[in-house]
Amino acid sequence: MTEPAPENPLRRLLLPPFVRTLRFRLASTFLGLLLIILLVVGLGGTAIIRSVLETRSEFTLREELAALKGYLHFDKDGPILSAEDDDDRVEIKRLTHAYVIAEASGRVRRSPEDKAFDALADSNQIRADVEQIRLTKENTFRLIQGDEDGPYQVIATLEPDAERRREYYVAVGRSVAPDLDVLKKFRRDYLVFLAIATILSSLATWYSAGRALRTLHFVEQAAKGITGTNLGLSIPQRGANDELDRLIGSFNEMSRRLKASFDQIRQFSTDVSHELRTPLTAIQGQLEVALFTARNMDQLREAIENALQDVERLSNLVRALLLLSQSESGQLPVIKTRLDMSELLADLVEQFQIPADAGQISLTQHSAGPVYCGVDRTQIERVINNLLSNALKYTPAGGWIRTWMETDGNTARLVVQDSGHGIPASHLPYIFDRFYRVPDPNPEKGLGLGLSFVSSIVRAHEGHIEVESTPGAGSKFTVSFPAEPQPAAPPLVGSSAPSS
Ligand SMILES: Nc1ncnc2c1ncn2[C@@H]1O[C@H](COP(=O)(O)OP(=O)(O)OP(=O)(O)O)[C@@H](O)[C@H]1O
Ligand SMILES: [Mg+2]
Repeated sequence: MTEPAPENPLRRLLLPPFVRTLRFRLASTFLGLLLIILLVVGLGGTAIIRSVLETRSEFTLREELAALKGYLHFDKDGPILSAEDDDDRVEIKRLTHAYVIAEASGRVRRSPEDKAFDALADSNQIRADVEQIRLTKENTFRLIQGDEDGPYQVIATLEPDAERRREYYVAVGRSVAPDLDVLKKFRRDYLVFLAIATILSSLATWYSAGRALRTLHFVEQAAKGITGTNLGLSIPQRGANDELDRLIGSFNEMSRRLKASFDQIRQFSTDVSHELRTPLTAIQGQLEVALFTARNMDQLREAIENALQDVERLSNLVRALLLLSQSESGQLPVIKTRLDMSELLADLVEQFQIPADAGQISLTQHSAGPVYCGVDRTQIERVINNLLSNALKYTPAGGWIRTWMETDGNTARLVVQDSGHGIPASHLPYIFDRFYRVPDPNPEKGLGLGLSFVSSIVRAHEGHIEVESTPGAGSKFTVSFPAEPQPAAPPLVGSSAPSS
């Protein structure tokens, strides 16, 4: 299991628990991003509006300058603004609210009487403008404060008096206060919008983050409520097929697996107590009967012998259970080595020859050649021993047992076939369960643990076991393992049962 990364202690000290909640972090991240976007939009909007207003103002100023020049004439005394009718007079009055006409030397010839526009008639400024206009051949623009309607933007140009070969400096100003008001109003409105948007978004993100995370709360509550008795508890999914639904799915799956394991352990304990009780009761009964009724040494001896048989059965059971539980919990390490399984099988079959002969059963081993597998020798020996001992146990005298190894290059198969009394189809699915024995009117002694052990060892070797059986005709157990690369020659394929 991976440990969660330890939390930075400084972070824990500085951030109160509320700030560290997922809800707060989700909501504040979203809100932060939204604010950045709104600020960028606000700044961009201000810049665009300012640029549009400036362009429009310059355009208007150029038009006003052109209009003023239209009324401007020169005679020997200098510049004259002449009007033909009342409309012209009104227009000239408007245009000359903020203006100046001066000689290029800086000597002012005409300017407003209002002292507020003195900045327009500043000779030094006029000379500087003249110099710049001559240099750039462009009009100049500048800002002055002017009267209470200011600030004013001023455009200046040079107008030639061709007749007298003189140049006059002509400048007109226009109040930009309305433009600045537009900008100010935009800024103020935008700030109000920003404040409202921030408040509404905070509420919305806080609410939706809380809503999204509420399911986590269910998971948390469910996890808190899980005990050994209500394992397998499942939280209903919301059908959104999102991350939280997947989390709930994994949680339910984990809970289901835990329940299955717990049920298995519980069942195992019940089976074990049940199996232990029978011989213990028998021993107790035999000893009590001997104690109260035995009249001589022979009777005592017989009782002790019977009890000893049961003690032996008990200790076999405990040994088998220990091995099985070690194997199932992965405590029996699988130390794989490359082995010729045909040779191993032949060795073990040889060891079973004496009991087979005693039971008048023909036991043969036939493999076409070496079959190499990476397996744990001791554990595979247990598999073969169990299969052979079952075959011997469940095959009546006069029958036969055949075993062989075969491979198709990728998979190696160990086959143990007998002509015994077989297993009815209704019992086949259960014979690998612990303590499962096919009910038999004349049962052989057995614990019902052998095949559970076999199947757990086979699983640990990434193999699988299959059984085919016909009652009255016999059984065939096939264990498949991944095969190791086989030596190139001789070719190793023995895929059919030997004929004898
Ligand atoms: N070759 C076989 N022929 C017929 N029945 C078999 C054969 N192998 C297993 N069985 C049936 O499957 C059951 C389970 O087998 P398993 O080896 O697990 O237990 P067991 O042989 O009864 O006891 P033990 O724990 O001593 O091996 C047996 O009781 C038997 O009924
Ligand atoms: Mg057995």
